[in-house]
Amino acid sequence: MSRPDLDWIDEAVRIIDADANRSADTHLHVFPLPAEWGIDLYLKDESVHPTGSLKHRLARSLFLYGLVNGQIGPSTVLIEASSGSTAVSEAYFARMLGLEFVTVVPRSTSREKIELIEFYGGRCHYIDQPSAIYSEAERLAAECGGHYLDQFTYAERATDWRGNNNIAESIFTQLREERHPIPYWIVVGAGTGGTSATLGRYVRYRRHPTHIAVVDPENSSFYRAWQTGDMAYCTGMPSRIEGIGRPRVEPSFLPGVIDEMLPVPDAGSLAAMRLLRQRTGHWAGGSTGTNLYGAFQLIARMIAEGRTGSVVTLVCDGGERYANTYYDDGWIAEQGLDLEPHRAVLDEFFDTGKWRAGPER
Ligand SMILES: Cc1ncc(COP(=O)(O)O)c(C=O)c1O
Repeated sequence: MSRPDLDWIDEAVRIIDADANRSADTHLHVFPLPAEWGIDLYLKDESVHPTGSLKHRLARSLFLYGLVNGQIGPSTVLIEASSGSTAVSEAYFARMLGLEFVTVVPRSTSREKIELIEFYGGRCHYIDQPSAIYSEAERLAAECGGHYLDQFTYAERATDWRGNNNIAESIFTQLREERHPIPYWIVVGAGTGGTSATLGRYVRYRRHPTHIAVVDPENSSFYRAWQTGDMAYCTGMPSRIEGIGRPRVEPSFLPGVIDEMLPVPDAGSLAAMRLLRQRTGHWAGGSTGTNLYGAFQLIARMIAEGRTGSVVTLVCDGGERYANTYYDDGWIAEQGLDLEPHRAVLDEFFDTGKWRAGPER
């Protein structure tokens, strides 16, 4: 590689590090639970990142990974397959480095998401067949000699699981002064699988007795694949909860670091998401509701086992992105979703500490 390119990479790494240095760490909020339970629930708020979601961390890692590998240079066109949070964050870093960014998105992608990607200077390349996003991104990269960032393959590789202020190290650092500093459960969803991979590896590497639980929405492949060990299992169907649940098992999904998986009905996710807002004022997205629905279930199990301790889950992104969908009763009705039975399960849980399994859907 020429000297000028190496100088450019050097400066690009400095710019990304400087951006990280200007950012404060994301908060760890307490979700209030009945004191007599002896259990503390924490929310790691990733919606406060500059680009509004946990994907800000991944995008930064994918850029640094591509830069130090010599795959990204001063005129590289960057390509991704994402209609969501990752593309928004990657567009932000591409603009910071003065690089062109194109993301392959299903034509059904929400206006809000498109506008956010374009706000950071990204360009959307539309396709009709959602399952073709990977091959289309590869084709585009080959056609223009660009670099396919490929979050689904490299999320687990590009993220430093040993520390370096990754999401796991940040959580354990922020719990240090708490009465239960080592959580019994950490509960997250899976899109690429990168977040659960990082948390699971870190916990094992640091030899913490913490259990990792992954929640999975309807139509996703992960739960069944984890249960059966069949990583080729494929539903071919998109998830209704943005950011999590996949039609196929993604390469960055590491079943070996996951202690438990919980399937969560979409109506349950959205009921829990709305309950979060009512009880704490936090306005979050659907995948945060999925996390909470799973966390409440595991807390009920801890109570039944007579166990005290702490549980941590994530606020993955902000609710403002879903004002016209998950927070819109009309959209909920159009989807044929009924949140009431799940709301009843949640209310009973807060009254009794017991979890009466709600409807499957
Ligand atoms: C809103 C939201 N929540 C959760 C996730 C899951 O994170 P991961 O891809 O690390 O599994 C994503 C991933 O795209 C997301 O966008």
